[in-house]
Amino acid sequence: MPLLDDIEPLKQTALADLAAAPDLAALEQTKGAWLGGNGRFTALMKQLGTLPKEEKPAAGKLINVAKQEIEAALLARREALELAAALPKEPTDFTLPGRRRALGKLHPLTQVTDDIVRAFRKIGFAVADGPEIEDEYHCFDALQTPADHPARDSQDTFYVASAARPLLRTHTSSVQIRVMQSQPPPVRIIVPGRVYRRDNADATHNPTFHQIEGLYVDKNVTVGDLKGTVEFVFRELMGSDVKIRFRQHYFSYTEPSYEIDFTNALVKKMGKDWLEIAGCGMVHPGVFENVGYDPAVWTGWAFGFGIERIAMLRYGINDIRLFYENDVRFLKQF
Ligand code: DAH
Repeated sequence: MPLLDDIEPLKQTALADLAAAPDLAALEQTKGAWLGGNGRFTALMKQLGTLPKEEKPAAGKLINVAKQEIEAALLARREALELAAALPKEPTDFTLPGRRRALGKLHPLTQVTDDIVRAFRKIGFAVADGPEIEDEYHCFDALQTPADHPARDSQDTFYVASAARPLLRTHTSSVQIRVMQSQPPPVRIIVPGRVYRRDNADATHNPTFHQIEGLYVDKNVTVGDLKGTVEFVFRELMGSDVKIRFRQHYFSYTEPSYEIDFTNALVKKMGKDWLEIAGCGMVHPGVFENVGYDPAVWTGWAFGFGIERIAMLRYGINDIRLFYENDVRFLKQF
């Protein structure tokens, strides 16, 4: 029976055509060419009427099954092509850096920290890190701060209730010790990090704030290097009109020790001549001995300053608590 013999090969050709359609437009054309009013498969169904009555049911059934198969293939091909059209043309490399942040901004303290780190990186400092929960040895003893020193007073230090007396580090100077214990000299590091003190929150104090510690150990290191370095970094941060001045001071881990005063147009605008900004000095030989460096061979300097202080100066912020309240009206301005 010629008609019945036509069904299978026609169906196969239709399926092949559908599978070969390269895109959705081509697929719709192929659909029309087979199943449209003048389509090839439609023509086959029209021939059904010419068959003898007794053959019609069987032939009709065969044609219907074939048609369903073609329609299913059409649907599947359409889904596949739609999916392909929705996919990016090039494979996506998710390791590429993003072009812009979708939402939000960096916190002003993060921005200032990044700028400070960038300035120190230019002159060869690496970033080091240490634990915020410290022990008395790294935070105080190794820095020659004896047990009866006021800095260890429970008025100033948060102690963790446990037999080992861990504490929340009161300064990033503890990381000086950890770094020197873990590597031989020379050392050239900065340590940005969070510190804790039992201060009541007011406009200039908060129980937690951030510091940057610096440590430079090599042969023949001088106060001149220290002064030049601090001056360079503050000019990078605050502009070329920055002046700094060293005032004699005392820290148990440096000798001689200084406080660094800072001035520029901003400070003048605040009605002040100088602003105290950091502590520093030449690393005490006793500290070198504590970490196993030979003080007859190695010299060094260290400094520490508060990041909030610099951010407040830079942006003209008069209340430190604004940094921690996460009020978007404040944060949006940076
Ligand atoms: N640790 C001191 C503080 O928290 C700052 C400081 C002073 C750090 C002198 C130093 C230094 O490294 O040499 O106030």
